[in-house]
Amino acid sequence: MLWPESERWEALVAVFARHARLSGYGLLLTPVIEDAALFRRGIGDASEVVGKEMYEFSDRGGRALALRPEGTAPVVRAFVQHRPQIPWKVWYVTPAFRYERPQAGRYRQHHQVGVEALGTEDPGLDVEVISLAAGFYAELGLERVDLALNSMGCANDRPAYVAALREYLAERREMLCDEHRDRFDANPLRVLDCKRPECRAATEGAPRMVDFLDASCAAHLAQVRAGLDALGILHRLEPRLVRGLDYYTRTTFEFAALALDAAQNAVGGGGRYDGLAEAIGGPPTPGIGFGIGIERLLLACDAEGCFNPAPSAPDVFVVDVTGGGAARDLCAEIRRAGMSAHRAYDDRSVKAQLKLADRSGARYAAIVGPRELEEGIVTVRALQEGSQMTVARKDFLPRLVGLVREGSG
Ligand code: HAM
Repeated sequence: MLWPESERWEALVAVFARHARLSGYGLLLTPVIEDAALFRRGIGDASEVVGKEMYEFSDRGGRALALRPEGTAPVVRAFVQHRPQIPWKVWYVTPAFRYERPQAGRYRQHHQVGVEALGTEDPGLDVEVISLAAGFYAELGLERVDLALNSMGCANDRPAYVAALREYLAERREMLCDEHRDRFDANPLRVLDCKRPECRAATEGAPRMVDFLDASCAAHLAQVRAGLDALGILHRLEPRLVRGLDYYTRTTFEFAALALDAAQNAVGGGGRYDGLAEAIGGPPTPGIGFGIGIERLLLACDAEGCFNPAPSAPDVFVVDVTGGGAARDLCAEIRRAGMSAHRAYDDRSVKAQLKLADRSGARYAAIVGPRELEEGIVTVRALQEGSQMTVARKDFLPRLVGLVREGSG
C-alpha cells in the first residue's frame, strides 16, 4: 500500500477510531498469530473460514499456529486471559488472512476495522454497536448501504430449528448443489448461505430461524429492532442471513454496499456470540461486535464517489542553494512549530528545487540563496499565487506561522 492511497487508509482508520472512542471503545492490539485451536474451537471446524481458508503452520517448537482469519476470536481470547472489567468495549484494526480465490474485493490478506463488546446481553448494546457502524459509513459519505438483520437464536431454540431445516433439506437433497447434496448434515445452516442458484432455489421456502425463537430471543430481537427504529437506522429482517462463522447467537447483521457487484458487496458484518468465551475455556460471557473490510469499503466509496480526502501537501518547501545548512535549520524550526516542511537534497539547482516545490503541492517556498544568506533574510513565495516577499531571518518563523494560520483559517 503506497502513498497517497495509504493516506486514505490512515484517514479511514482515524475516522473509525474517532467513532469508536466517542462510544467508549478502547484500542486493543493482539498478535497476528494465535493457536490454531482457538479458531477451530471458536469459529468452528465446519466453517469455510477454518475448514478451507485458514493459514496454518507449525512453528519450530511444533506448535500448531494460525494467521488470524478474523478479529473476534483473538479478542475473546484476550478477554479470557486478562479478565478485564465488564462491559469491556474494544476496537481494532488488523490484517486478516483467508486462503480464498483472490479477485476484486476478495484478498488473501485483507484488513478490518471492528469493535467487540463483552459482558452484557442488553439489546441496547446491540443497537449501539450497529449504530456505530452505520454512523461510520455515513461519515464516509456512503449512501447506498443495506442493513440486513436476523436472529440466530440460542442453545435453547436453535437445535429444533436445525433439525427442521435438516429435514427440509433432506427432502430436497437432489435439488442442492454438488457441494451440499451429500454434505449438509453437520451444519445445514451453511446451505442457506450458499450462493449457487440450485441451493438458493431449494431453500426458497425453508423454515426460518425467526419462527423458532423462544420467548426471550424473540423479545431480544424485537427490542433491537425497536432501538434501531428509534435511532432512524433503516434495516430489514433477512431470515436467510446466517453468516459464515459458527459462533453467532441471537443478533446477526450484515451491511452490503449496493453500489458494488452483489457477489462481493458485504462491507461489514457481525453479531452476538454469547457462547464464545465459554467455548474457548472462559467464564460464560455474552458479547457482540462487527468487522468491516477496509479494501472493500474503499471500493464502495470509489463506486459512490465519496471519501476522497486530498493527500496532504507540505506547508513549506525549503529551497536552499547555499549548501544545505539553511534547509537543515529552517526545516527543523518549522517542524518544531508543528508545521510540515519538505526540502531537496544533493545540492540541486534553484530551478530544479523550485520544480520539486511545485510538485510537492506546498503552499509556500522558503528560499535561501547567496543573497538571502548574506543579508540575513528569507524569500517567502506563495506558490499558488506566485507573490513573494522577503522577511528577516529572525522574523521568519512568526511570519510563517501567521501566514499558514491565516491560510488555513
Ligand atoms: P466476516 O463477515 O467474515 O466477519 O468479515 C467481516 C468483513 O471483512 C466482511 O464483511 C468483508 O467486508 C471483509 N472481508 C472478509 N473476507 C474478506 C476477503 N477475503 N477480502 C476482503 N475483505 C474481506 C468477521 O470476520 C467477524 N469477525 C465479524 C464480527 C466481529 N462478528 C462479531 N464481531
